[in-house]
Amino acid sequence: MPRPTQALVDLAAIRHNLGVVRRLVGPAPKLLIPVKADAYGHGAVPVARLCEQLGVDLLGIATVEEGLALREAGIGLPLILLGNILPTEAAAVVSHGLTASLSDADVAAALCRAARQAGQRVPVFVEVDTGMGRVGVHPCEQADRFITDIAGRPELLLQAVFSHFPCADEPDARFAHEQVRRLQAVRSRVEAAGVRVPLWSMANSSAVCDLPTAHLDLVRPGIMVYGYPPSPEARCGADLRPAMSLRSAIVFLKRVRRGTSLGYGRTYEVPVDQSLVATVPIGYADGYARALSNRAPVLIGGRRYRVSGRVSMDQITVDLGPDSQAQVGDEVVLFGQQGPSTVPVSEIAGLLDTIVYEVTCGVSRRVPRAWIDADEP
Ligand SMILES: Cc1ncc(COP(=O)(O)O)c(C=O)c1O
Repeated sequence: MPRPTQALVDLAAIRHNLGVVRRLVGPAPKLLIPVKADAYGHGAVPVARLCEQLGVDLLGIATVEEGLALREAGIGLPLILLGNILPTEAAAVVSHGLTASLSDADVAAALCRAARQAGQRVPVFVEVDTGMGRVGVHPCEQADRFITDIAGRPELLLQAVFSHFPCADEPDARFAHEQVRRLQAVRSRVEAAGVRVPLWSMANSSAVCDLPTAHLDLVRPGIMVYGYPPSPEARCGADLRPAMSLRSAIVFLKRVRRGTSLGYGRTYEVPVDQSLVATVPIGYADGYARALSNRAPVLIGGRRYRVSGRVSMDQITVDLGPDSQAQVGDEVVLFGQQGPSTVPVSEIAGLLDTIVYEVTCGVSRRVPRAWIDADEP
């Protein structure tokens, strides 16, 4: 029997959130769901399987290794590498049937060589940098020539041109609108030159929720599919169902005297006599950050308590006060729901001065994932 700490992922929530995406974008756009970073911590293989069942068109990955793991698990959907690869990775991209995103001629040339060697025509995306400032070809100086060149290569099959938003989640949408205008200008010019690109794509979750002009032919929502609004203001926020909760259980209890200190650095002193102190087997090695020491809420018996003392590598302590009747084995929720109470991931992210993406991705490999489908009878 493993220790009780686990990340519980509700696939029904992901199914529901995909429905929210579909309602927002309408029937036409294709869906690319990012399952990179182990599906933002939710488990790439089960999420990819669910996406396949639900008719998602493509999946997004970050590395060749992620693609290989999905192929080995039998996932047949197109797997799009959303970042740049090195020319040295081209052969592996072709042999695993992955789709590279191209931003430069060297990778394109390496992919053409790998495609010739394999005797295959390989699908590719092209990224245009309309304002993210990372990878992607420049929308004015290079894009038209690069897209035309890629579209004309017999070894490659240009499937989509895409771009990414750095701040579509901010209330001031002027820069996002300018980015859409830049990509649309590229599209008009290459189409006028007779180049046909099947799909144009811009929308991440923020744009799916709040920027309909960016929906185009293919949307790429990630965080909202996992149930977390891309920003507190996002219009879709209330409709989403968070998929992950982080759970553990009390493994040890003791009653202590007032003044007893808990944990490393003795940063917490129990204020009342006969307080019940619970030890819970989760720590920073599980991705439960040390910066949550003495700050983060936890749920026990449907009530909110607070981490008391430092988060150590494998354990935390919680002062339950003198009146608690908690028992060893009682469930502890670090984020998620317990009875009527909830600790939203956004609250943990706020305490850590970060975003929900980092919290769910940060739940470490040591924490076993368990998948349920709350809608299944
Ligand atoms: C290229 C690209 N498209 C789409 C997404 C999904 O973004 P979000 O999770 O904010 O919807 C990402 C996420 O990092 C990305 O890198």
